[in-house]
Amino acid sequence: MPILECQKVSKAYGGLLAVSDLSFAVEPGEVYAIVGPNGAGKTSLFDCISGVNAATSGVIKFKDREIQGLRAHQIGRLGLARTFQTTVAFDSQTVLANVLVGGAFGREGEYPTLWFKHQAQDDALDALALCGMGGQQRTLAGQLPVLARKRLMLATALAMRPQMLLLDEPFGGLNPVERAQMIELIRIVAKTGMTILMIEHVMKAVQALADRILVIHHGQQITIGPPSKVLRDPRVVEVYLGNLGPMGPEATPADA
Ligand SMILES: Nc1ncnc2c1ncn2[C@@H]1O[C@H](COP(=O)(O)OP(=O)(O)OP(=O)(O)O)[C@@H](O)[C@H]1O
Ligand SMILES: [Mg+2]
Repeated sequence: MPILECQKVSKAYGGLLAVSDLSFAVEPGEVYAIVGPNGAGKTSLFDCISGVNAATSGVIKFKDREIQGLRAHQIGRLGLARTFQTTVAFDSQTVLANVLVGGAFGREGEYPTLWFKHQAQDDALDALALCGMGGQQRTLAGQLPVLARKRLMLATALAMRPQMLLLDEPFGGLNPVERAQMIELIRIVAKTGMTILMIEHVMKAVQALADRILVIHHGQQITIGPPSKVLRDPRVVEVYLGNLGPMGPEATPADA
């Protein structure tokens, strides 16, 4: 049984249909990538799934429960955590304080109590260690360089102890060395059994990590399949070659 299922999900902003009738399902333990040109509707889809912005129509099921009407914090507490395309953090707070927010507020159960804070602290420290941030707990989030900010955002999501992660462009803004480190980190997280749904333009990363890829264009599905098949699909090549400008040559399947 899929852990996440989208059935005919659409999202309209006024007259603009950003996500159009998308249906797909993610199996437990899978690393599933969503690719598509700028403005294809990828982040809008994540916003619908994570409850940041309600879908206009369609059904979204997480662990066989309909979640399309729920608020973001409710969906988070069901075990579905996300990161954002721009690295968001409480910049004036320490790394540890940031991750504690995920551990204390983003999880199932009651609002934090003293006992709960203890548990939250353990989860925060575990998440920081997994993300290679164990030595930076006292650093202010605002002072971190980009890769560390991305690690921090991932650690904050992991401190929620989710069963599934949505990652919006985890490789955006990273240089090739940093990308290799991020591939390593996501591999480690995936090996813990985590289901990962990842939006990504960097094809080398998609190829290295994804079990399956969903390609969308103008909010609609172009194709779904394993990387070996999808990246050779002429329709996919056309979508990317037609968008070389905004996406850059790096994003083309030919470069993968
Ligand atoms: N809150 C909003 N209000 C109105 N239009 C929006 C809003 N958010 C996104 N859009 C529009 O919806 C379309 C899809 O945007 P979205 O951000 O989902 O694309 P994307 O695939 O994530 O693109 P990118 O690769 O640039 O991140 C775009 O035309 C965008 O301008
Ligand atoms: Mg986006």
